[in-house]
Amino acid sequence: MRRPLRAFTVTLAVLLALVRGRSVRADDFLTSSPGALSKSHAALDDQGTCGSCHEPDRSISAAKCLGCHDHGDLAARIAAGKGFHASAKAAGRDCKLCHQEHRGRGFDLMGWRAVGGESSFDHALSGWPLQGLSDPLICAA
Ligand code: HEC
Ligand code: HEC
Ligand code: HEC
Repeated sequence: MRRPLRAFTVTLAVLLALVRGRSVRADDFLTSSPGALSKSHAALDDQGTCGSCHEPDRSISAAKCLGCHDHGDLAARIAAGKGFHASAKAAGRDCKLCHQEHRGRGFDLMGWRAVGGESSFDHALSGWPLQGLSDPLICAA
């Protein structure tokens, strides 16, 4: 009778430790945002919506980003081998490599830095070379 009881107590202790460890990690994650999200994602800057970009282990999944950005058919364009995101520069690479987050509302989420800046972006990579229009001022136009 004593051995099953001890086994039960040990199992209970292990379970309790697991549950406690789990909740501590979850709380940790929710209260440890490294900084404000960009303006475009400001609506997601809430403890209830961290999971729209993060997996439970904190990692960022391309599937979650693409799931929300399908209105622009980004995933379809990548699958069809079209546009900048299907080029050798971006295909198969982590989204966060270029689209960094938690660097404040005013941060350049677009990722122009990663491609040498907006004005020196090689437009041919987008699949739409700019013929004869090389003035950086036209980006804004
Ligand atoms: C719009 C997508 C998005 C949302 C929403 C988001 N994050 Fe992030 N988070 C990122 C990205 C992208 C990185 C990677 C940062 C980098 O490398 O620039 C990151 C990194 C982090 C990191 C550091 C990485 C690590 O492994 O420890 C923590 C902590 C974090 N986020 C917490 C949060 C919390 C807490 C929330 C909710 C308040 C949240 N995030 C909401 C995109 C998001
Ligand atoms: C819950 C939906 C949602 C998720 C998840 C999400 N986004 Fe967004 N994202 C938006 C909205 C809404 C905007 C602002 C409107 C727009 O430009 O489409 C935006 C804007 C952007 C922009 C800038 C577009 C612009 O015109 O300024 C980039 C780049 C971007 N998101 C990349 C990402 C990446 C990378 C992830 C994953 C880490 C991600 N998004 C996750 C909804 C989302
Ligand atoms: C090598 C850098 C790089 C990587 C990796 C990258 N992007 Fe981008 N992304 C850019 C640049 C530069 C732009 C602006 C030029 C353009 O729109 O093609 C952009 C534009 C965007 C936009 C807004 C315009 C559009 O096409 O809808 C979204 C949304 C976006 N990226 C999401 C993502 C997601 C999701 C991933 C991961 C699957 C990703 N990006 C990976 C550099 C990158």
